[in-house]
Order: sequence, then structure tokens, then C-alpha cells
Amino acid sequence: MLLSCENVRKTFGPTVVLDDLSLEVDEHRVVALIGASGSGKSTLLRCVNLLTGIDDGTIRLDGEDITDPRVNPDLVRRRIGMVFQSYNLFPHMTVLRNITLAPEKVHGRPAAEIRDQAMEWLGRVGLADKANSYPDRLSGGQQQRVAIVRALVNSPRLLLLDEVTSALDPELVGEVLTMIRGLKEEGMTMVLATHEMGFARQVADRVVFLDGGRVLEAGPPEQVLGDPVEARTRQFLARIIEAGRL
Ligand SMILES: Nc1ncnc2c1ncn2[C@@H]1O[C@H](COP(=O)(O)OP(=O)(O)OP(=O)(O)O)[C@@H](O)[C@H]1O
Ligand SMILES: [Mg+2]
Repeated sequence: MLLSCENVRKTFGPTVVLDDLSLEVDEHRVVALIGASGSGKSTLLRCVNLLTGIDDGTIRLDGEDITDPRVNPDLVRRRIGMVFQSYNLFPHMTVLRNITLAPEKVHGRPAAEIRDQAMEWLGRVGLADKANSYPDRLSGGQQQRVAIVRALVNSPRLLLLDEVTSALDPELVGEVLTMIRGLKEEGMTMVLATHEMGFARQVADRVVFLDGGRVLEAGPPEQVLGDPVEARTRQFLARIIEAGRL
């Protein structure tokens, strides 16, 4: 097992956002987190990436307790890539610099090695000719693929994707989904939060439905999305279908 969250509890003041949440992700598997707005999807991803601390429970990566206060978060984050809805590229830096900055400055890796890796990834996703462009010259879909490359350049064990297609025009969603499907075929382990059930169905091995910071239901996509056991899951999916997103 690559990632395990055991009885994780996270509060913001009086609000319990993750409530005794347990989740396991095997290597080379893709898990989709679904659930209503506010159910805790982003918070869970942020806790796994140590962007926010947890109040109780344990998170393990490759068996190591990464929530142990003695653990250096920079070393953990080097093993975990994270991509957000808003691509957060620096506008005043070229595509290549956006990708190489953190590995070089934060993780202290040799510049030439990172550059080679960045160029290889850009080539694989058809963006080699954009290496020296500034982000505002790229489409949203291209910028999001650059953000994913930036997360891949440290060769992470685990990739966390938070609504990576939500900010994109519908005609640009496809190219990002194609890239993510390609990563799955290469065996990348991913946990992704999404409102796009079609995407979850296509790419995920397991779908996890979060409700009020708890795992209410989990299983293969065809079961959770097609024939859910829990009434809350059915209600959620009915709303999604109404909004035309299934
Ligand atoms: N920094 C924070 N301070 C206080 N409350 C927060 C903070 N971050 C998140 N929350 C609260 O935690 C709950 C879960 O939020 P989270 O962003 O994880 O939900 P989500 O499932 O990702 O929702 P969405 O589908 O809208 O992205 C919400 O009630 C939110 O208001
Ligand atoms: Mg969110």
C-alpha cells in the first residue's frame, strides 16, 4: 500500500472537516474523491501533502508516518506532486523556469538534471516548443499540463490532483484528461478530487464518496456511481445528473 490515512481528524476552529477518515491507496491505483462542496476533498489532499496539519490520526506514505512532527515536510513533498484547480504558474517566468524552480531551490537538485527531465516531460505532452514561452501565451489547457509537468519533475511516488479541469473551458478539458489517462497507463498512483463523474468513471479504479468529512461509501466506479448503496450518495448523484455532469 502506498498511502494510508488512518482515523484522520481535522478541525478548523469548531468545525470538524475530516472526521475519523480512513483511506488506503495501493500503488499504481487511481482513487477519485467525490462529494458535495465542503465535504472535505481538498482538505484531505492538503493534509496528505502536509500543507495543513491534522489534529488526530496518522498518514503513511510507503509505510512511513509522514504526520510525525519530526518528519521534514520538504522531503515528503518531494515524493508527492500536487496540482490545483488554478494552475498557479508564475507569470514572470518561462514555462521551463516554472517547472525547474522548486526542484532546484527547494529540493537542491542539479539544474542540468532537472532541465533534462523537464524537457523530456514537455516533449511527451507535446509542449516542448513552449519551454521558453511565458504562461500568458499558453491556453488554459496547456498551462494546466505545464502545472502537471511541474508536479512530475521530481518523479513523485504519488500525484494529488484537485479539480484540475474545473477552471478550463470544456473544449480544453479533453487534453488534460488525456494526459492524466496517459499517466495512469504508466502506473502513476493518483488521488484526485473531481466533480466530473465521467472522468472519475473513466480513470478511477476506486471512487470514494465523502460526506461531512467521512468516507460514506467506496468501491469500483460502476458500483458507487452506477448502483450506490447509501441514500446520501444517491441524492448527490441525482443532483449531479440534474446539473448534466454525469
Ligand atoms: N483554512 C480554512 N479555515 C477554515 N475552514 C476551512 C478552511 N479550509 C477549508 N475549510 C472548511 O472545511 C470544509 C471542507 O472544505 P474543502 O475545501 O475541503 O471541501 P471540498 O470538498 O474540497 O469542496 P469543493 O467541492 O467546493 O472544492 C468546508 O466547510 C470549508 O469551509
Ligand atoms: Mg475542493
